[in-house]
Amino acid sequence: MRIKFIGHACVQLLGSKTILFDPYLTGNPAATVKAGEVKADYILLTHGHGDHLGDTVAIAKRTGAKVVAMVELANWLSEQGVDAMGMNIGGSYQFPDGLKVKLVPAWHSSQLPDGSPCGLAVGFICWLDGKCIYHAGDTGLFGDMREVIAPHGLDWAILPIGDYYTMGPADALTAAKWLGAKNYLPIHYNTFPLLKQDAAAFKRAVEAECAAKCQALAPGEECEA
Ligand code: NI
Ligand code: MN
Repeated sequence: MRIKFIGHACVQLLGSKTILFDPYLTGNPAATVKAGEVKADYILLTHGHGDHLGDTVAIAKRTGAKVVAMVELANWLSEQGVDAMGMNIGGSYQFPDGLKVKLVPAWHSSQLPDGSPCGLAVGFICWLDGKCIYHAGDTGLFGDMREVIAPHGLDWAILPIGDYYTMGPADALTAAKWLGAKNYLPIHYNTFPLLKQDAAAFKRAVEAECAAKCQALAPGEECEA
């Protein structure tokens, strides 16, 4: 399996299935693919903010991808004609084709661009092709990363480092120490001037202070998972 950073919080897992997280492409200055060409079998959507919802409806309709999201957000997506599956925090589901997903907490708000409420923001743990991957979504640092999320045995943790709306690099470094993942991918930075961060410095700090690799991928780059 390969892991590709598309830009902002949008990450793609390229394995036996193609998993797309938070496909904000149209209007995203960091996006490296277009909504009309990106591939997906599943879209995992962490919350309803525009920089995460993005092109979910259009991509799901074009590709037939199933969207997994918080139940209120999934209900709204279903009303738009999308094949959406609504879950809630702590719940997991094993798809027959091999993908397993689990919704975990994220400390963040959630609302749709049209002003509709859509339940709580979440993170995802997913299992595909023998790897366990955590996408934190938008969140501040919280202690249950250590108590609830780390025990799953993470191969990858995908963490926001942009600060202002989410954790910044210092809290993300603490998260990395608590999560104990083998690999880290920083996201949700440099998309806008307000989110300017030094990902190379974050990588150095993680690799110096955790027994882990950190892949500071530029938008469009991918690596072996
Ligand atoms: Ni958000
Ligand atoms: Mn965001």
